[in-house]
Formats: sequence, C-alpha cells, structure tokens
Amino acid sequence: MITRRGFAARIGAAVAAGRMLPEMAYAQRAMIQGDLPKDMVWLNANENPLGPPQSSLAAMADVLSAAGRYHYQEVRDFYAALARSEDLQPENIVAGCGSSELLHAAVEAFTAPDRPLIVMHPTYEGPPEVARAMHRQVIQVPLLPDYSADVRKIAEAADKIHAGLIYMCNPNNPTASITPKAEVAWLVANLPPDNVLLIDEAYIHFGESKELETALPYVRQAKNVVVARTFSKIYGMAGVRAGFVCARPELIERMRPFRNNVLSIIAIRAVLAALAESRTLLPERRATNARIRGELCAWLRERKLPYIDTQANFMMIDVGRNAREFIAKMPPMGVAVGRPFPPLDNMLRVTIGTDPEMQKFRDVFWRVYRG
Ligand SMILES: Cc1ncc(COP(=O)(O)O)c(C=O)c1O
Repeated sequence: MITRRGFAARIGAAVAAGRMLPEMAYAQRAMIQGDLPKDMVWLNANENPLGPPQSSLAAMADVLSAAGRYHYQEVRDFYAALARSEDLQPENIVAGCGSSELLHAAVEAFTAPDRPLIVMHPTYEGPPEVARAMHRQVIQVPLLPDYSADVRKIAEAADKIHAGLIYMCNPNNPTASITPKAEVAWLVANLPPDNVLLIDEAYIHFGESKELETALPYVRQAKNVVVARTFSKIYGMAGVRAGFVCARPELIERMRPFRNNVLSIIAIRAVLAALAESRTLLPERRATNARIRGELCAWLRERKLPYIDTQANFMMIDVGRNAREFIAKMPPMGVAVGRPFPPLDNMLRVTIGTDPEMQKFRDVFWRVYRG
C-alpha cells in the first residue's frame, strides 16, 4: 500500500524527470505512476473523452478478421478521401501513424546542421525534442503577452540564422491560445526564401474565434507551408494513430522518405468512416466541447481565478502559486492534469472531459486550491 505522501513524492519525481521526455501523450500518462484510484479521471493528454465515432468503431470491428493481409491496395483510395476532405489533391498529402510521425518527418526533411528549427515558446515539445535529438539547433521565440506567436521576431530570427523550418502550433499547446489569421498571413508573406513554415492544426476544430483560420489556403496557393492534422483530438482516435500533413507536392516528396510506413488497415478504415460523417460530427463535438469548456470558464470567473482564453479542448488556469506541487497533489485524489510547462510556472493545464469528469475536476481542484 502506498501512502498519499509517498505517492505525491513519486509523481513529483516523475514530473521532474518528465522534463527530459518529449511532450507526447504517452509520456504525459507515463509520468503519473503509483497505485492509481480505479476511477481515475485522465485530463492530462488532451484526449477526447467521446472516443471514436460509432461508425469508426463498427468499421474497425468489421475489418479485424481481415487484418492478416496488408491491404496496400486500399491506400490510394485512402489518400483520395483525405485529399477530398480538405479540397486538395492526393499529391498534397502524406499520412502517418498520428501527426507525430509527420512532425518528425518535417524536422528531418527541412532542418540540417546549418538549418535550425524555430519554435514559439512554450509550445508542443514534439518537434523541438526530435530536432535536439538530431543535434539541430532549436531557437525559441517567446509568445507575446496575449499568448500568440511573435511572428515578426520569428521572421527576423529565421532570416538571421538561415533557419530551415519554423514550427507554429495554432491553437497552441499548452496555452490553447491562437495566433490570429492576419499574423499568420503576415508570416507567410514574409517567410525568408527557402524556409518552410509548419503549422500544426491538431486542435483547430475546437476553435470558435473568427480570428482563427486554417492555413490550408496557403497550401492550395503552393506556398512554403505545411499543415499538420490529426485524428487524435476532435475525432477521438488517439489510440488508433492516424494523422496527415498537407503541402505542395515538392514538399510532400521531401518528407515522404522519412515517414515509417503505411497506416494499419484498422486505422485506415476508422478514418474513412469518420470522414464520411465529419460534416455533422465535427460541429456536434465542437459544440459539446465549447459548452463544457464555457461552464468551467464561468466557474473560474465566479472564483476570480485567471485563465488563458481557450480555443481548444484544454485550457490553462493560473493557480496563483508555483503549479508543480499543485499538479502533483491531484492524481492521488483521482484527477490527472498536464505536467508543468515552464516558463508558465503558475499555470495548470487541464483537458476538457465529460460533464461528470469536469465536476470531479472542479471538486478536486478546489480542495487543493483551498489547501
Ligand atoms: C499540438 C500537437 N500536435 C501533435 C500531437 C500529436 O498527436 P498525434 O501523434 O496523436 O496525432 C499532439 C498531441 O498531444 C499535440 O498536442
């Protein structure tokens, strides 16, 4: 039997060790160890509690008995369906086991020992971790006070150091903030030649702001822009592992050698089923997330607790003290939230779950907050 104090200490140590782990969902979960309560609520990895749509579940179940074959002949239609869903051509797409694989491929393709990676800071750690592992230089440009990307400083840095790749996450993880469409447009227009701008839109479907716009039009205009998308977030299929990037064909051809393989037939069928109902599925899920998120924001406002305006399925709350210990106290009480995200030391990141999960989050959060 593990004592509560011992348990918290273990989480603390694991969170500290986590600074060396990539900010991948599996790492988020792996950081929380110990004898966890059976009814643990997981609000730490920006997953979607609704899970895969029914049509995807049925499609996956249906294909399981045929999983002894490679099914490579279906890949062409899969690419065609992905391309159609974004009004692009199959040559504009490469798919992977989650968008992680393709973020990795982009770092491999567009950075070099003398072509650094530029990232906003803080942001999703996947690309900078891969770049560092490859001994690429990583330049971090701090977010502006409104938590948007400082596109002017990014362009200046890219020009000065002859960067190979700029990674922008919009909406950004961990802040759930956006970089307004005019700022993205400015950066695209002012990209130094030979620089590629990778825009990660993992959470874009959850956004409601008029200032938030996909960068896909720049792909259609054949700019040096790569857009990353995933089926892990609004589609609720993080464990299925499916994502893709969109870009003009020359950029796709530079990334393609660095992906690992084709997706499993199970993932392919799940994605095809989900895409077939995306017109209704996405607005429904966006509205559910926005309602539950709005209720949490109202609860925080009533208590005068500051938070960062959120356009995603997670948000950052200012707990008014260093959040590291606060975060570590929650799992033994049955709720796991995101790891600390320096330099935002007072911020706690929570994923939006179901109504009962958020009720439990509020109870546990308040007990820890009140001490
Ligand atoms: C911004 C961002 N991009 C990409 C990913 C990776 O997602 P996946 O590999 O599951 O598509 C995540 C996961 O949390 C993320 O937050």
